Amino acid sequence: MIETSDLRNTRMPLNHGAGQMPALGFGTLIPEAAATICATRDALEAGFRHFDCAERYQNEREVGEALQAGLATGGIAREDIFVTTKVWNSNHRPERVEPAFEASLDRLRLNYLDLYLIHTPFAFRPGDEHDPRDTEGNVVYDRGVTLLETWRAMESLVDGGRCRAIGLSDITLNRLLPIYESARIKPAVVQVEGHPYLPETELLEFCKEKDIVFLAFAPLGHGIRPGPLDDPVISAIAARVGKTPAQVLLAWAVQRGTALLTTPRTAARARENLDVSVLPEDAFDEINRIQTRHRFNEVVKTGSPGFIPQGR
Ligand SMILES: NC(=O)c1ccc[n+]([C@@H]2O[C@H](COP(=O)([O-])OP(=O)(O)OC[C@H]3O[C@@H](n4cnc5c(N)ncnc54)[C@H](OP(=O)(O)O)[C@@H]3O)[C@@H](O)[C@H]2O)c1
Repeated sequence: MIETSDLRNTRMPLNHGAGQMPALGFGTLIPEAAATICATRDALEAGFRHFDCAERYQNEREVGEALQAGLATGGIAREDIFVTTKVWNSNHRPERVEPAFEASLDRLRLNYLDLYLIHTPFAFRPGDEHDPRDTEGNVVYDRGVTLLETWRAMESLVDGGRCRAIGLSDITLNRLLPIYESARIKPAVVQVEGHPYLPETELLEFCKEKDIVFLAFAPLGHGIRPGPLDDPVISAIAARVGKTPAQVLLAWAVQRGTALLTTPRTAARARENLDVSVLPEDAFDEINRIQTRHRFNEVVKTGSPGFIPQGR
């Protein structure tokens, strides 16, 4: 367990000498453009220094605008923030990876990325259509490219010097293993759903053993209720330690050695989600003993985003 009482500044070292990732990350999966700008600006102002983006979210321009303005106003250096984005399923062909990376950089107004992820291990029909469907409405997959071929193109981006680290998202341990074994540059980060109802313990153990950062999305169960936010064990601990259920869930995630992403939409929520302190050991153990199991996001099974944010 981590010893410091304040978890806000916890940083996770990345393999391959790629620096450190702030454990508490802000996710930009926000459907509306104006809300993206406000929430990103508020998150930066509140103190978030880790921003998770994706070409699939179709709001990299707004995130870029908010970051550029926020860095200038706050006197914050580019090196002080950690920015991730992800290559989408329709860009898995090796020749499409670098153009996709460059286009994301351009939209984000950045000249390097801290982390680039393969958004899902599923390749869709190559092209500019994010969600290619056949006449029956089924996703059109691309059988002409392997995940390892896409990974090789990701490795070339690191060689090029404008991408500091690479990783995978929405991946199972079974699919991660062959990539890990064949990779010249090992994955630095794996981003998957993670919370007390889906602890992914086996994957987490593998990541710890191999110096891969386990980056949990949906640490609050996507805010869906019933869910971890209103679990009776979490509520009771929150009352006992004088924190909110969200803060308890975020503390648990960091204490078990993962980084995490949340999407606070207001300045008050951003401050709340950063104000995270170590839980007493008995509370930590109690959360580990929760037996409920539930996956909120099916993206890991099909590559199709299984979750549309509330309010879309
Ligand atoms: N790799 C992938 O496939 C994938 C999939 C999904 C998400 N992600 C990433 O992960 C990020 C995190 O998203 P998430 O949905 O997983 O995050 P989450 O934090 O588990 O859920 C977000 C929801 O929680 C609510 N919330 C936030 N802070 C709260 C608090 N302090 N108390 C109560 N409710 C709170 C929000 O409500 P309000 O809107 O009312 O504030 C929102 O509805 C995304 O933005 C994205 O970057 C990645």
